[in-house]
Amino acid sequence: MTEEQLQALLHEMTTAEKVGQLTQFAGAFYSEQEDSTPVTGRIEFPVEEDMIKESGSVLGVAGAMKLMGIQREHLKKSRLGIPLLFMADVINGFETIFPIPLGLGATWDPALIEELQTISAKEAASAGLHISFAPMADLVRDPRWGRVMESTGEDPLLNSLFAAATVRGLQGKDSLIANDRVGACVKHFAAYGLAEGGRDYNTVDLSERELRDKHLPAYKAALEAGVKLVMTAFNTVDSIPATANSTLLRDLLRGELQFDGVVISDFGAVQELIPHGVAENEAEAAKKALEAGVDIDMMSLSYAHSLASLIDEHMIDSTFIDEAVLRVLQLKNELGLFEDPYRGVSLEKEQTVVGHPSHLALAQTVAEKSMVLLKNENVLPLDKQTSVALIGPYADNQDLLGEWSIFGKTDQTTTLRQAVQKQYTHAIYAKGSQLYERDEELLKEAIAAMEQTDCLLLALGEGKDRSGEGRSRSSITLAPCQIELARLAKETGKPVIVALFNARPLDLTELEPYADAILECWHPGSEGAKAVVAILSGKVNPSGKLTMSFPRATGQIPVYYNAYQTGRPLPPGSNERFFSRYIDIPNEPLYPFGFGLSYTSFGYSNRSLSSAKWDGSGILTVSVDITNIGEVKGDEIVQLYIQDVVGEVVRPVKELKSFQKVSLSPGETKTVTFEISHDMLQYYHSDLTFASDPGQFRVYVNGSSVCEEENTLTFSLVKS
Ligand code: IFM
Repeated sequence: MTEEQLQALLHEMTTAEKVGQLTQFAGAFYSEQEDSTPVTGRIEFPVEEDMIKESGSVLGVAGAMKLMGIQREHLKKSRLGIPLLFMADVINGFETIFPIPLGLGATWDPALIEELQTISAKEAASAGLHISFAPMADLVRDPRWGRVMESTGEDPLLNSLFAAATVRGLQGKDSLIANDRVGACVKHFAAYGLAEGGRDYNTVDLSERELRDKHLPAYKAALEAGVKLVMTAFNTVDSIPATANSTLLRDLLRGELQFDGVVISDFGAVQELIPHGVAENEAEAAKKALEAGVDIDMMSLSYAHSLASLIDEHMIDSTFIDEAVLRVLQLKNELGLFEDPYRGVSLEKEQTVVGHPSHLALAQTVAEKSMVLLKNENVLPLDKQTSVALIGPYADNQDLLGEWSIFGKTDQTTTLRQAVQKQYTHAIYAKGSQLYERDEELLKEAIAAMEQTDCLLLALGEGKDRSGEGRSRSSITLAPCQIELARLAKETGKPVIVALFNARPLDLTELEPYADAILECWHPGSEGAKAVVAILSGKVNPSGKLTMSFPRATGQIPVYYNAYQTGRPLPPGSNERFFSRYIDIPNEPLYPFGFGLSYTSFGYSNRSLSSAKWDGSGILTVSVDITNIGEVKGDEIVQLYIQDVVGEVVRPVKELKSFQKVSLSPGETKTVTFEISHDMLQYYHSDLTFASDPGQFRVYVNGSSVCEEENTLTFSLVKS
């Protein structure tokens, strides 16, 4: 349709039809057989038939047959023949499930993320979906929050690169979304990742400077990549819920950042303005949300119940409604739905595309690159002839897909037991423990199994029932029954390898001494178990690096690498009292940001800068020689960090500015060169200008965020 035709359509619409375009209900309301829509809030309302008839979009349902049926029925009833939009959470895959986003982050490979999101889009589109609620660009620092698994971690640069890659992968690069792509929706605007105490939906309080400096970059990157929708956050920003926050949505998002796509609330968030205490009733909630800039009310009845009467009573300017409806119509138009309401969907296509072997092969590759070797005291890789006892609640467990794998096939997922027994002919299995509860009988079987083999492989972790939305934890240790299993394994004196399946950084301090090797596997997706075995056997050399710090204790949270300088930084090795420190644990996390081992080692030498003084024009280069000093080929993620030594405001101890992945054969050396540009030194000052400070900068190049003082380079930024 042309813009004029869209305007004409808008003109023809009744108020009820317009309001319908601004409401979204779950699939369960459209199809009697539909019961799989994830419900992530309260549904306590009767949705009247007319609301369904007029509604503009559907949440959380997929499948070619089902969606074609819903669309067909809808179009029969729609006076103006306006097709429905189908939206769902296709986060790390549709039916082919890739690792959870925190694992995807650990690949440090945005191009790979783009590739897998292209596959997700293809599968989702063939099953009738139009929009995916990804990427989640929230910066996270508190692993008590169950949703850290949906983020790529604690760093603004990495989150930005991943957010943009996800948008490109889902949508493609053209302005019109091709039939095998879906529109992306960046969420949750803004700063949802900072919920106080890690408790979901809790207050967020941060300065505008901090918001701009650390949190906005990733959402902005998604906007710059052309994302079609933005979802509001549940939390407050400066004491106003994001869903009613016009400074955030109208001034910043639409005004300054020039976003002209659709803004959708999160599930029930418009209605939640009432318990938040900023609206007295549904009508006030609807008015505040629409005026603030929320186009679609997801899963509440505030718009459906109140917008029409607000207009009748001249309580709201009808241009707010018209603008919002037009944006929804434009989105439908961009997807080509007016020409073909069944775009991209067919039973045959769905059958050939979804779960295609090439998609599963990619899922395994991604899982291999996402896993992080946290410890290895000369036990891995494990020779195929080794006799192994595979023990633990994750050993024979299909719960490998993670939260939001709503269209994944858990019952078709290969377990670690199946994958191990295929590779290791001398492998035996014992469950040993439930995930969270001790079981005496299982423990006895495990002890018997431990006696029979040379090596013990423990598959431990926490299930998807302990992570994701609404699953915050006050303590993030492994369950005591699993620690007991590890202790008993260690007491045998045999090598103990732990494969960990979890969706948040855990406090591994108690487990660590009982394990000779720890492989962080995350919730690795459809082909995850095969990926674990490829790494354990040495077929694949692990290369993943953490993008979120693993704390030493829950009480150390939040602990993140790019923290601000204090006035009393603890001198290295010092134990003195009046410094910023804990008296019972070190300040450093157990496993820092950027950390991950390989089966080989890399030597860093000849770090150098092209100049010790720079006026900020052109580029400054940093180079370093990386040598594979081990015996097997490996990939290293070389990381560049910069610290602004004296700023106008206090600056972080270091910030990631660039990184490169290099592949090296044994004995091989490569020179890696980074380019520093002036914008890498800029940040938001107290008056919110984006500028740099003349003076000294420190540069760190290493294989993690930890770098010895003697390997630091320095330069001065001078005024030209
Ligand atoms: O997309 C999600 C969001 O991240 C959390 N609440 C529900 C939405 C739709 O399922």
